[in-house]
This record gives sequence, structure tokens and C-alpha cells, in this order.
Amino acid sequence: MGERTLVVIKPDGVKRKLAGKIISRFEEKGFIIEILKSYSFTTEKAKDFYSAHSNKPFFNELVSFITSGPTMALILDGNSAINAVRLMIGSTKSYEAAPGTIRGDLALNITDNIIHASDSYESFIKEAGVIFNST
Ligand code: CMP
Repeated sequence: MGERTLVVIKPDGVKRKLAGKIISRFEEKGFIIEILKSYSFTTEKAKDFYSAHSNKPFFNELVSFITSGPTMALILDGNSAINAVRLMIGSTKSYEAAPGTIRGDLALNITDNIIHASDSYESFIKEAGVIFNST
């Protein structure tokens, strides 16, 4: 059976019209797109989403960036999805991300690194809850 993970195509990815290209890569890899939704973070939701980073010096930058425009949120289903998707997106520091990865091919920066994916089952539950259990 598959595993699920959450992917967020960040505002820079959407603005640069890379969403289709990025989603294609997940489809070609074999993932099932269980949910796909355009989602605009409020400041409150962004702080909750990134609460694990609330004590980091770049927290405010992170929140202001993720709220700067619409994102695309996806739930993907497939074998070992959490780890497999992290491998596909590449290093957080896009300028160090291996060629062939999504960041390695399409991004160059840290804050605006076009995509986010849950790094553990606990993160997936937390992050998907913020986006999909919105009231
Ligand atoms: P993401 O995968 O969304 O998870 C947390 C984000 O924090 C990360 O991608 C980067 O965009 C951001 N981040 C990590 N390290 C730094 C840093 N040193 N400066 C600014 N942003 C960072």
C-alpha cells in the first residue's frame, strides 16, 4: 500500500508558472494525486504551518514569503512517498540541490525554493491539517 505526503508549490513556483511542470514530474514518477488545491496562506495559517521554525532567525521571512501569493497544495500517494518526494525535490538550499532534482533544476535560492514537502509522518499530519482542515 502507498503512503501519503503533502507538497506545497510555493508562491515563486506558481508565479513562475512552474506548477504544471512540477506536478508532471510527480505523475511521471508514479504518484497518485489524491488532492490538488490552490491555497493562499493567511499569516496565522503560515505561522502554524511553519511553527517548527518559530525560533529561527528566518521565521518572519518565511511567513512573509509563503503568504506573498497563492500556492498549490497536493496530497500525493505512493510507495514511501515522504522519503521519495524529499529525494525528488532536493536540498533546501537550492544552489546545492543536485541537478535532476526539482530544486536542482528549477531554483537557486533558500527562501524562494519553489516547493515544500513534509519531512516526516508527524509533519505530514500537522501540515495537511493546517491546509485542509481550514475553517
Ligand atoms: P521548506 O522545505 O519549506 O521548510 C522550511 C523552509 O525554511 C525551507 O524550505 C526554506 O525555504 C526556509 N529556510 C531554511 N533555512 C533557511 C535560511 N537559512 N534562511 C532562510 N530561509 C530558510
